[in-house]
Amino acid sequence: MTIDRRTLIAEAALAPSVHNVQPARWRCVGDDGIALFEDVATRLCVGDPTGNDARISLGAAAEGLRLAAGRAGFALREAEPPLAEPGLVPVAGYRLVSDAAAADPLAGAVDARRSWRGGFATVEDADRGAAAALAGADAKVVTDRALLAELARVYDAASYDFLRDAGFRRELLSWMRLRRSHPRWATDGLNAGAMAMGAVEARGAGVVLGKGFALLDRVGLARPLLAEGSKVAAAAGLVVFHRPAGEAPFESGRHFYRLWLRLEAAGFGAAVLAALADDPAAARTVAATAGVPAGERVVSAFRIGRRPAGAAPLPRARRSLDDLLV
Ligand SMILES: Cc1cc2nc3c(=O)[nH]c(=O)nc-3n(C[C@H](O)[C@H](O)[C@H](O)COP(=O)(O)O)c2cc1C
Repeated sequence: MTIDRRTLIAEAALAPSVHNVQPARWRCVGDDGIALFEDVATRLCVGDPTGNDARISLGAAAEGLRLAAGRAGFALREAEPPLAEPGLVPVAGYRLVSDAAAADPLAGAVDARRSWRGGFATVEDADRGAAAALAGADAKVVTDRALLAELARVYDAASYDFLRDAGFRRELLSWMRLRRSHPRWATDGLNAGAMAMGAVEARGAGVVLGKGFALLDRVGLARPLLAEGSKVAAAAGLVVFHRPAGEAPFESGRHFYRLWLRLEAAGFGAAVLAALADDPAAARTVAATAGVPAGERVVSAFRIGRRPAGAAPLPRARRSLDDLLV
């Protein structure tokens, strides 16, 4: 069987990444090797000072490669990682070996999976039941309406605490593409379409997160303008993703992607609520509310629900393969 490594890497690039920075860079090595690097230029110095989210994103990309390889009839074996180069941090080395048993049914959800930040269809009891059924070894699901409303408030408070930091807002805005004319609209970052914003909303978001923040904050308007809690309260469920406290974020990232693919395969649209995991007090409340076992760390959370009938998929921005190959 011949190996088309470019196709595998293109599929791996569909994995989620924080702010859609897409930190993974790839190199084909020899006849059957693939090296994975992190592009340090994509680091979020304010939002992700320890590199935790970058490692989660890289783990998701690596899992994407594994799923793509399995679909093509190959398993990934660990190999010698590459050496460091200017601007590139070595992450992992792999060798592809023929293995007809490596196919993984979750690979079938890769193409359809993407963040769903739009509103949800009205939640039926069956949706709540289907959401609850997604609970697993590393996922707890909250479907009770009163608890969802409470977690919506916790989310808005945690999220706003991050957004009050001018450096955080500046960095976030630098990855937002609020106009279609932005040169990187379809390449990386968060475009208005993917954020389910119309042109007017997008312009408003630019003002609230930018020059208008100080004034709007002073008059108490910034918080309600940025609040997203209503979408949490209107979800079929809140999925809490937890992993062993000492686990490396790269490994957690592999499982994060697998969980998201499981949500997609069950027909749910999902949006990440990172503030619920990143704010320590919020994470404690979430863990207690969802019943996360002792010794486990809340790594992330998703709001999930059915996309309204006929809703078009939100646009996906990705770097070109030439950009990803180093
Ligand atoms: C570590 C991590 C944290 C994320 N945090 C958020 C978040 O707080 N809010 C959000 O809407 N999306 C979040 N995302 C989702 C990314 O923004 C999304 O995966 C990226 O924009 C690519 O788009 P796609 O998911 O549609 O492929 C996060 C993803 C990762 C890997």
